Amino acid sequence: RRVAALIPAAGSGQRMGSATPKPYLLLGRREILARTLEVFETCAAVHDVWVIASAEQQQHCRQGIVERYGFGKVRGVVAGGDERQASVWRGLQQLAPEVDLVVIHDGVRPFVSHALIEDAVEGAAQHGAAIAAVPLKDTIKRVSRQGQVEATVPRDRLWRIQTPQAFRRQLLQQAFEQAWQQRFVATDEAGLIEAYGHSVYVVQGSERNVKITTPDDLAMCERLIEREDHDG
Ligand code: CTP
Ligand code: MG
Repeated sequence: RRVAALIPAAGSGQRMGSATPKPYLLLGRREILARTLEVFETCAAVHDVWVIASAEQQQHCRQGIVERYGFGKVRGVVAGGDERQASVWRGLQQLAPEVDLVVIHDGVRPFVSHALIEDAVEGAAQHGAAIAAVPLKDTIKRVSRQGQVEATVPRDRLWRIQTPQAFRRQLLQQAFEQAWQQRFVATDEAGLIEAYGHSVYVVQGSERNVKITTPDDLAMCERLIEREDHDG
């Protein structure tokens, strides 16, 4: 078994709105992306790592992150595209022929654990596609544009989807090719597999595994890091 990780980090960070692109913002003393890569670097289940950076940041990502921290599993930093799907597709092109499982993980989810990566990879080996998810905790209601509650949505089968998302390489490749032909765009990789007609399984994600999207998210993660640094 050979497992490659694709780490998309080529987004424009609209919702963060920072001058420094989101993956390169500091969280404590290290960049968000460096923290994410560290988890993959030290995860025994993963053999190769490919980082997908924006064309403008490609050089900085190589020198300022990969070389600076000495991430030896990183095989390359590729330039991403306008949409996440295009970014991941470019990463997929790079994989060595012997890779049979692919795990995709947002560069801006630094609190992923080895166990979660392993669960996703194991799920993909077994079922073809496995994604991290957490059950909803809040009550969910559908609300009209005028602000009036229309219905309470049964919550018991609704999950919030995260990354890592892991796939058999062959399946992922075929799903991407079909999406490309049909000009279908999904918000996550599993969406392509579903459209392709193959089932996708969830593995238990974690509330800690947040995607840093807004300044509030960053502030909350800063507090989390401070507490950990303080506790030792
Ligand atoms: N991503 C990417 N290529 C894109 C768009 C997104 O590689 N064309 C990556 C982001 O860099 C991020 C991950 O996908 O690591 C999750 O995306 P998101 O949190 O939405 O980041 P951004 O797209 O950068 O932020 P926003 O949507 O607020 O612009
Ligand atoms: Mg985005």
